[in-house]
Amino acid sequence: MAEPVNTDRRRLLIGAVGVTGVFGVAAAAYPFISSWQPSARAKALGAPVTINIAALEPGGTVMVLWRGRPVYVVRRTPELLARLAKLADELVDPQSLASRQPEYAHNLARARDPEYFVVEGVCTHLSCAPAPQLSGPSRRPEIVAVWPGGFFCACHGSMYDAAGRVFKGVPAPANLPIPQYYFKTPAELVVGLDEAPPRSA
Ligand code: FES
Repeated sequence: MAEPVNTDRRRLLIGAVGVTGVFGVAAAAYPFISSWQPSARAKALGAPVTINIAALEPGGTVMVLWRGRPVYVVRRTPELLARLAKLADELVDPQSLASRQPEYAHNLARARDPEYFVVEGVCTHLSCAPAPQLSGPSRRPEIVAVWPGGFFCACHGSMYDAAGRVFKGVPAPANLPIPQYYFKTPAELVVGLDEAPPRSA
């Protein structure tokens, strides 16, 4: 059974993390897909973007900008997926009942395909950009005890799991939003639409 976590302790750790920035994960550390995308104007208006995920290794992450926001695609390992079912007591909304996601992503993994997690990198506190840190803060074992990894918002220390679900005792009130998306092919994922538009005659 998972160890109960003291949320007061988590709050103290949040302060430490926010001040020292020990996570230090820059968005630039992730492959940023910027070529073969719609124009900046079209993207600002919400045009869908296509992400090639053919080279995405297990445990890897890519980022794309959609509607001016970072969208991450994480290829989750079996270990990351197994962890999702063990965190319910630590989360504000473990079943994502009050969170924003398409119906096909309203499940434990918050995804169409559990292996590929697609999420908007926009913190539900004050809209900073949480960064993926899926293996957790390896240099801070005391923080690993309360947060095993996922997404971390350095602005005020909000912690999310590997399905974008927010932990208790942090400023963010809700899980990270999931955008509309679909798999165009096994190697191509489209963000911004639920399905391919019908072919015109
Ligand atoms: S904006 Fe993310 S914790 Fe405040």
